Amino acid sequence: MTFYTESAAQTIELGKKIGSFLRPGDIIALQGTLAAGKTTLTKGIAAALNIDEDITSPTFTLVSVYEGRMPLYHMDVYRLEGGDDFLDLGAEEMLYGDGLCVIEWSEKIMSELPAHTIVIGLSAENEKRTVTIENWKYGDFAL
Ligand SMILES: Nc1ncnc2c1ncn2[C@@H]1O[C@H](COP(=O)(O)OP(=O)(O)OP(=O)(O)O)[C@@H](O)[C@H]1O
Ligand SMILES: [Mg+2]
Repeated sequence: MTFYTESAAQTIELGKKIGSFLRPGDIIALQGTLAAGKTTLTKGIAAALNIDEDITSPTFTLVSVYEGRMPLYHMDVYRLEGGDDFLDLGAEEMLYGDGLCVIEWSEKIMSELPAHTIVIGLSAENEKRTVTIENWKYGDFAL
């Protein structure tokens, strides 16, 4: 499925829509360059989980945990070398836990993610974002 957004607010709306379907154990692998909109999309997903805290890229902390209708494990693996670093972080407990994992810069650690992982790619051109969702299992929806 492919969506096009024209503002950060629209990307947040798309995140809310996506988040409304998600269930414990789901994993979202976000891909896309600097400022592509990965954190912006995550803000919408978090809102759909009834999390009202401000969501920021956990670039230095690597993972932030938020409590909503299920836990949100928001990871940013930009600073990791690869899969082994990710596992050393204790990733498996989150990946196979009772919450939702959203992973920014997931390109780096795809080999460690299970087959049911939903992959969302973002690409930017000015204010426009092309958002491609792969391996989605909840049926088609419109923005
Ligand atoms: N259509 C759009 N969707 C999302 N963000 C947009 C859009 N248009 C402009 N922006 C701006 O682009 C930036 C996206 O930043 P964001 O932090 O979400 O990116 P990111 O992919 O998480 O980056 P990083 O790799 O640094 O973590 C924000 O400043 C946002 O306001
Ligand atoms: Mg980010």
